[in-house]
Amino acid sequence: MKIAIPRECRPGETRVAASPEVVKKLAGFSFDVAVEKGAGEAAAITDANFKDAGATIAEDATATYKNADMVLKIQRPVTEGAEGQNELSLIKKGAVVLAHMAALTHKEDVAAMAEAGITAFAMELMPRITRAQSMDILSSQSNLAGYKAVLDGAAEYGSAFPMMMTAAGTVPPAKVFIMGVGVAGLQAIATAKRLGAIVTATDVRPATKEQVESLGGKFLEVDPEMEKNAQTEGGYAKEMPPEYFEKQKQVVSEHIKSQDLVITTALIPGRSAPVLVTEDMVKTMKHGSVIVDLAVEAGGNCPLSQLGEVVVKHGVTLVGYDNVPGRLAKDASLLFAKNLLNFLSPHVDQEKKDLNFDWEDETVAGTLLCRDGKVIHPMLTGGE
Ligand code: NAI
Repeated sequence: MKIAIPRECRPGETRVAASPEVVKKLAGFSFDVAVEKGAGEAAAITDANFKDAGATIAEDATATYKNADMVLKIQRPVTEGAEGQNELSLIKKGAVVLAHMAALTHKEDVAAMAEAGITAFAMELMPRITRAQSMDILSSQSNLAGYKAVLDGAAEYGSAFPMMMTAAGTVPPAKVFIMGVGVAGLQAIATAKRLGAIVTATDVRPATKEQVESLGGKFLEVDPEMEKNAQTEGGYAKEMPPEYFEKQKQVVSEHIKSQDLVITTALIPGRSAPVLVTEDMVKTMKHGSVIVDLAVEAGGNCPLSQLGEVVVKHGVTLVGYDNVPGRLAKDASLLFAKNLLNFLSPHVDQEKKDLNFDWEDETVAGTLLCRDGKVIHPMLTGGE
């Protein structure tokens, strides 16, 4: 059984879907692991690191994919007509591909994979059950993004974070406001606290109040009554009604005026990110304050933020980096790779040196997009 680890070819992708530790484990299952030359370069993982772990280094993409039974990727394969190397054409029929497939927003690519006879798993659709926590790429990557967002914000902010009492006078602590307290938001709170900031946070899901407080932050409440039904069974936020946004706008407008750094992380799976910080709110913020919009790839929580850019509007710096986990490429790769391994391991048939998926398993059924030429995931076929 051959496993291919290609070099990611989408622009700006710095991560790689394997680590030396994971290669070692896969080689230990007697799988042949082929890593494309330079695949880990942007993540500070060398070809020699992969080779020492038991991989062979393939000269180019064609050699990497050739005869591979399984492909481990960060992002979905590039399809025909899209910019860059057509990766899909290099993958053999019947091969298994694991990646962040962006399946809910790029259904055409799922259809193309089905047509190519590929068995594709969308790792971003991993069910949020306790057993699957170690397989959850959204979690592992968001955690890093939350941490990095604070550092990116601090780098743009022209003042210090902690209170400093010096002979020359007192530097006040920075005020940091986190909007959306999921995995990224919680790590952002912890990081900002460690840097000495005064932290407040808000979310539609009521369970987050206690989590914010346990990290030493203060929770900004919008409407506890409407928030009672804000969470799906899967642990995600629901899209809120317009009345909620009105109320949220009032509460946030008042609060945001005094904040130095605002980090927005609010996402609704498969939909555009909700607008939480309007242009009018930005206008009321202090000059020199900073907004880091972690939802910018899903349209942004602030309409002024621009994908991949740092811009200044109304005296406020808006940070809109895309692929924030990729800004910590090494850690992001190691965790992503481990997520994939944790997903695969229970299905390895050690005796036959093969993979034998239990199609009934919740983590398999929850992520399987297409098989035997057909798109079968209920979120794509209208079954859910
Ligand atoms: P996410 O990335 O989808 O969204 C980020 C945050 O934005 C969420 O907390 C969401 O409630 C919030 N949000 C959405 N719309 C909002 C609005 N209009 N105003 C304010 N906030 C808004 O969520 P994430 O970080 O992926 O996790 C959500 C939950 O799932 C967390 O409680 C986390 O602990 C849980 N989880 C469970 C896992 C498991 O059991 N396997 C794995 C990962 C997360």
